Amino acid sequence: MSTCESFQPSESIRFDVLTLFPDMFPGYLSQGHLKRAVEQGKVDVHLHNFRDYAPGKRKQIDDRPFGGGPGMLMMCQPVFDCVEDVRQMSPEPGRLLMLTPTGRKLDQKLVEELAQETRLIVLCGRYEGFDDRIREGLEPTEVSVGDFICNGGEVPAMLIIDTVIRLIPGVLNDETSSRYDSFSHKGLLEHPQFTRPREFRGMRVPDVLLTGNHREIEEWQKEESLRRTAERRQDLLE
Ligand SMILES: C[S@@+](CC[C@H](N)C(=O)[O-])C[C@H]1O[C@@H](n2cnc3c(N)ncnc32)[C@H](O)[C@@H]1O
Repeated sequence: MSTCESFQPSESIRFDVLTLFPDMFPGYLSQGHLKRAVEQGKVDVHLHNFRDYAPGKRKQIDDRPFGGGPGMLMMCQPVFDCVEDVRQMSPEPGRLLMLTPTGRKLDQKLVEELAQETRLIVLCGRYEGFDDRIREGLEPTEVSVGDFICNGGEVPAMLIIDTVIRLIPGVLNDETSSRYDSFSHKGLLEHPQFTRPREFRGMRVPDVLLTGNHREIEEWQKEESLRRTAERRQDLLE
């Protein structure tokens, strides 16, 4: 079950990540589900360095903001050139994402929206962020991963890849698993779960889970899911 009834994830997805730090990705890309998904051809990740599109010997990518203020901004030309070059590397135009704390906050609904795309082109900022004309001229979907500031867009980009690929059919071992995750199943938090042993340091697994009665177990899980959501995340019930 997803947050939206008409949810139809893509069968496979290509990510183009535009960054100043491509070397941050290989470790992440070579582990777990992502590694398997890449091997199966369900996920394809291409890394591109903005620096390769910067002019001159100095390969300057950033400059001081007009009007003053701290830090440096990513300049228009290398970012526009990189996006325009990367776009034509594959026949699908793709959806352009810009990572910025001022964007639409990432939640499961947005993750589902993104998982329906066949190609995502992701712009990772650094320094104090992007010259605003990059937003104006390229019209990306601006995405924030939360109300806090990261040092760059690379970790947010991994977060997007990580959350989106879970929804691509065949990426998880158990197809049903992502459907019952928190936020996906009716938009609620997941119910508590337990594994062996039945008792640990005096804490017992609830008896109902040991009965084998599927109807009762399902009922208990529904109630716990609602109770936990009401206790911790009233906003989800609203
Ligand atoms: C240090 S941040 C710049 C923050 C910017 N000066 C501001 O206050 O909005 C550098 C880059 O990290 C990325 N970033 C930082 N926090 C983020 C967040 N919460 N969501 C998405 N991207 C983020 C963006 O790509 C941003 O351009």
